Amino acid sequence: MSTSTERHQFTTLSRLLHWTMAAMVLTMLGIGVTMVVSLANYHALVSVHRPLGVAILILVVVRFVNRVLNPPPPWPATMGRAERLAATAAEFTMYGLMFALPLIGWGMLSAARYPIVLPGPLRLPYILPHDLMLYAALRKTHTILAYLLFLTFITHVGAVLVHTLVVRDGFLKRMVPWKVRPPEPALPTDPVRP
Ligand code: HEM
Ligand code: HEM
Repeated sequence: MSTSTERHQFTTLSRLLHWTMAAMVLTMLGIGVTMVVSLANYHALVSVHRPLGVAILILVVVRFVNRVLNPPPPWPATMGRAERLAATAAEFTMYGLMFALPLIGWGMLSAARYPIVLPGPLRLPYILPHDLMLYAALRKTHTILAYLLFLTFITHVGAVLVHTLVVRDGFLKRMVPWKVRPPEPALPTDPVRP
């Protein structure tokens, strides 16, 4: 059940998942790019990249179920129909990529028969047959999708900043980690719809 506070904000769990995963995803993008250009640190970085990616894969499933059970608060009146559609599309693209990227990472190491070791005794099973051509294709796909995720993230943050700083509709408050009071009923920036 949503309370009056939650109707203009994502639920506490949704906000916790958003910021935890935002930090994890940005770390993964940074580690990914650094490990391919820095051979000296490659093994240390890839040994963080694998388990962190697997944690993202598990969390994104939890987050998607949570999103279905706890839908977002209604869009603010400052967003038109096309913008709402674009924002929803960007959000689902990020969900898709947060799911696909770890799976492809796991799949490509499986196709190369590279041991997929996690911390401690944990080891992932191979999910694809041994095939070096498949490895090469997935390796390229992993890079392309990682950059696509970065692009979508830039668009996402850009849109949030424009709303928060230019339109000044308090858009960021929907997702800030702390609770905020509901907005006043008739703000000057919140035009009343006919
Ligand atoms: C660090 C800067 C970030 C800021 C300021 C930010 C801000 C926000 C805000 C204000 C919303 C609410 C939008 C709405 O009402 O639907 C939101 C939603 C969302 N954000 Fe971000 N975000 C950031 C990073 C990220 C990252 C790195 C990802 C993942 C790649 C991400 C994925 C999402 C998704 C999927 C939603 C939809 C809500 C959900 O289902 O959890 N965000 N973000
Ligand atoms: C959200 C999750 C993930 C993100 C954002 C991500 C991102 C990246 C990025 C940006 C690169 C560098 C690409 C390049 O510049 O060519 C990379 C490389 C790589 N990733 Fe991921 N990755 C994720 C999950 C995974 C997972 C789960 C695994 C393995 C189980 C994995 C294994 C690798 C490997 C082995 C490389 C390249 C190593 C090499 O070239 O030798 N990734 N990743």
